[in-house]
Order: sequence, then C-alpha cells, then structure tokens
Amino acid sequence: MAKTFVVKKIGGPEVMELVDVDPGKPGAGEVLIRHTAIGVNFADIHYRRGTAPPHAMAKLPIPFTPGLEAAGVIEAIGPGVTGFQVGDRVAYATATNTIGAYTEARLFPADRVFKLPKGVSDVDAAALLYRAITVHGIIRSCYPVKSGNVILLHAAAGGVGSILAGWAKNLGATVIGTVSSDAKAELAKSYGCKHVIVTGKEDFVARTMALTNGKGVDVCFDGVGIDVFLKSFDCIRRYGMMVSFGQASGMMDPVDPVLLQHQGHYLTKFSGSTYNEDTGEYQQRAKEVLAAIESGVIARGHHVVYPFADVARAHADMESRRSTGSLVLQL
Ligand SMILES: NC(=O)c1ccc[n+]([C@@H]2O[C@H](COP(=O)([O-])OP(=O)(O)OC[C@H]3O[C@@H](n4cnc5c(N)ncnc54)[C@H](OP(=O)(O)O)[C@@H]3O)[C@@H](O)[C@H]2O)c1
Repeated sequence: MAKTFVVKKIGGPEVMELVDVDPGKPGAGEVLIRHTAIGVNFADIHYRRGTAPPHAMAKLPIPFTPGLEAAGVIEAIGPGVTGFQVGDRVAYATATNTIGAYTEARLFPADRVFKLPKGVSDVDAAALLYRAITVHGIIRSCYPVKSGNVILLHAAAGGVGSILAGWAKNLGATVIGTVSSDAKAELAKSYGCKHVIVTGKEDFVARTMALTNGKGVDVCFDGVGIDVFLKSFDCIRRYGMMVSFGQASGMMDPVDPVLLQHQGHYLTKFSGSTYNEDTGEYQQRAKEVLAAIESGVIARGHHVVYPFADVARAHADMESRRSTGSLVLQL
C-alpha cells in the first residue's frame, strides 16, 4: 500500500486527506516508482482550490491526488518497457493528465520518466525539474534570452523566479526582479537579479523605466498575473514581449489587442502542458535541464524541505507568500 494524499472536494490545504492506496502492478509501458522526494508547485495549489485555468480544471478528475513531479526508485517494470531496470533512480515532471505525485508510490508512463545522473540528488531533482523545464520553455522557446537582454521578472525570489534569474544571468542578461519584502529582495539578488524592486514600497513601473533610462525592458516574464500583468506592459520597450506563465495573484482579464499596438508588443502565454505534450520535446528539455543542474548553470539548494505528512503546511506557506525558492516533500 502507498500513503497517498487525496482531494475529495475543492478547498483549503486541509482538504488533502491521507489514505492508503494500492498502486497496483505496472501495465504495458508503465513503471512503478517508489517516491523519495516530491516537488510542491503553485499549480498544485491552483488545482486544490480550483483556480487553475478552466480548461485544466475541466480535465481534472475529482477525487484526485495533487502533484506534478517527483523523484524516486523504480520498483517494478511493465511489459514492453525498455531502458530501465529495477533500482534505477528516476524522476518526472508532468501535466494534468498524469497528475498524482503526492503519494509514496505510483505507476507512471515509462516514456515520461528520465534517469537521474549520479550528480543530481533526489531532493534537488524534485525541487528543480518541473520549474526548470518550465523556465527552459520560457527562455529558450517563448523568448530566447541572449546576452545583453534586459528582463523584468515578477516573484523573483520564488521557485520559478530563483531558477529563471540565475539562468538568465548566466546567459548574460540583466534581470530586474520584483518581490514583496526586503528579505526576499536579498534572496532575489543572490539568485541572480541585478536590481530588485520591493512592490508595496516602490512603483515597479516607474523604477523599471528609471533603471532602463526610459526605454523599457526587452521582455517581461510574469507568473503573478492580475496584480501586475497590465501595468507590466508599461515597462516593456517598443517591439518587446510579454511572456505570461502564471497567475499566482489571480487570472488576468482578457486583453484587447489594441493594447499591443501602441508599442508593437508581442504577447504569449506559456503552458507546460502544451510545451511538454510532445514526449520527445519534453525529454529533450529534461536532458538539457539535468545538464544545466550538473554544470551549475541552474543553482541548487534554493529550496525548503518538508516531511511528506506536512504537505498542508507547505501549501499554506506558499499560498501566503511566506515561501522562497522551491518546496519539496521528503519521504
Ligand atoms: N505555465 C506553467 O506550465 C507553469 C509551470 C510552473 C509554474 N507556473 C507558474 O509560475 C508561478 C511561480 O510558480 P512557483 O511554483 O515557483 O511559485 P512561487 O513563485 O514560489 O510562489 C508564488 C509567488 O508569487 C508571488 N505572488 C504575488 N501575488 C501573490 C498572491 N496573491 N498569492 C500568492 N503568491 C503571490 C509571491 O512572491 P512575492 O511575495 O515576492 O510577490 C509568491 O512567492 C506560478 O504562478 C505558477 O502557477 C506555471
């Protein structure tokens, strides 16, 4: 049996109930993974409280087990699976259709699993992979970041923010981050931001325009949503781009295309489900992310570890903006 968190009705952190579930035997193309570390992502909160985008909520079965990524060890292998052995250390970072990582053990499609190199620990993998694969999509596919770019990054001390700030700096970009407190500002600087704006103390539009000599940034990466989304266009240079990838503060209102014409702005909305739907593309992103972790381009250690049983506390910390870096459940 595997202790498993189940959500039977949408609600607060307390609706995640621990139950015993038989994970079953792997069918064709599946492996059974015994988890050692599980990543806690803001998306898990969105699913639990019902604030994920409507198309994602519509696909969600209820009851369901939250969780989009984990690391662990292969315990059994189903018919037709090649390339894996019992005992292999593996991980996955996935989407709504394979949601269910908050469990001690589960079946998973083998083609969406990757082996972990010796140099990447299970906790590092669970802390980094889902977010880093997201960052890969954002800074390689949506807006290929290059040396000299100036970036506005919201929630720069968060899980995605900490990875994006460091990776973009490594590519030679200048990152202007926004955060909600002085303590987070210090962290965001250590993660790779050159300038940090504490929202609530300073107007981020005025400060970004001052920092860029009135020109604006090349691109804004926004995972915060409604509280900053529209205002952020006033920080973007002519022909610059807005990459929206999340809505921690709430879903944005629909955008009138006329908004974009004043400065010839480009707008896109990243979704991991879309960008990682193709298994080959997903595996390639994972390979490059693991290489970037091993080489130090993606920094490790910006995470907080919680015991598996404390998942509600992890959710509450993240939801109330107390958390920084990534959050991991250890088994
Ligand atoms: N599209 C995708 O496939 C994809 C994949 C991964 C992540 N995401 C999105 O990326 C964003 C970051 O994810 P994460 O897991 O790394 O979370 P996170 O950044 O560690 O946490 C969210 C941060 O958002 C900021 N925030 C601003 N207003 C908030 C509010 N009203 N409530 C809560 N937080 C608020 C907070 O930072 P401050 O206190 O500093 O403002 C908070 O720490 C989320 O929106 C997530 O859904 C999207």
